[in-house]
Amino acid sequence: MRDIYTLGIESSCDETSVAIVKNGREILSNIIDTQIPIHEKYGGVVPEIASRNHIEAISRVTKKALEEANISFEQIDAITPTYGPGLVGALLVGLSYAKALSFAINKPLVGVNHIQGHIAANYITYKELEPPFLCMMMSGGNTQIIQVKDYTEFEVLGKTRDDAIGEAFDKVARVVGLGYPGGPKVDKLAQEGEPIINLPKTHFENMDFSFSGIKTAVINLHHKNPEINKANLCASFEKTVTEILLENVNRAIKQTGIKTIALAGGVSANSYIRKAFLTLQQDDKEKKIKIYMPDLKLCTDNAAMIASAGYYNYIQGKRDELHLNAIPNLKL
Ligand code: KG4
Repeated sequence: MRDIYTLGIESSCDETSVAIVKNGREILSNIIDTQIPIHEKYGGVVPEIASRNHIEAISRVTKKALEEANISFEQIDAITPTYGPGLVGALLVGLSYAKALSFAINKPLVGVNHIQGHIAANYITYKELEPPFLCMMMSGGNTQIIQVKDYTEFEVLGKTRDDAIGEAFDKVARVVGLGYPGGPKVDKLAQEGEPIINLPKTHFENMDFSFSGIKTAVINLHHKNPEINKANLCASFEKTVTEILLENVNRAIKQTGIKTIALAGGVSANSYIRKAFLTLQQDDKEKKIKIYMPDLKLCTDNAAMIASAGYYNYIQGKRDELHLNAIPNLKL
């Protein structure tokens, strides 16, 4: 069979990224131009500033991705941009660029759901991984347990009813004075602390999540006692949210009988969460639970995962018209 090359474009938040991926699994290039230093001084992503910076970066990043992959536009089979969910202005930059490219070089446009991209990061890390499996998707905008039935077929078993887990990490970081982006900083500080502070957990009858209660509890504890040990607070927060994740994942395993679990999204870079999921595998007496987690550099936003998901959409025959629009709240 002939090799298929997809050109992925990601601009849903604060990373401008373009990648070339071969057959959905092999990265030829994955250029990531992050805006973190620009947004750091505001304590979070400023949407308008993000859009403007995507505009400045997109042509340069695309050129670099083609050069590094040593490939020409003629060899590309499909242009696969993220078209949602995300910040609308930011999404529109990558999508409009992709549409112009598709028209100019006469190659098909194949839109990608950003969440589908995060799941696909696992296909790049593990060449042998194939659906079906369960995916614990944890990012700055989403927290969902997904039953991945096939490469392009998904069922959401549970989702957050309020904050995404990444939002809660970022808020905790801000409250204790660690700055943006908070997740990696909480991760680091928690390693110096002990999880000795009791924090609340919210339970539902189904597999939904809620992180606003624990977030507010951390804020209140810190306001009442600004001298509280921040490392212990971060460690306790991490331990409690991980318990919540594991409880729902165990329910999903029981309900579906599926024992292959993949992690996805920026928060899957968290060292405590990664260790806890590996323990789930080690403690399984029947040795049937298998945990997959993307390479650290593929956990947070990047275009390689989008190009991988784009490949599977492309080979399933998905094609989009040039009037494809950005959908900020796109569902799986
Ligand atoms: O997947 P992502 O790059 O963007 C979205 O698609 O939302 O996720 C970003 C989120 C941020 O909330 C960031 O703080 C969090 O992932 N994050 C982490 C870690 N690295 C990134 N959270 C906890 N521990 C980490 N090591």
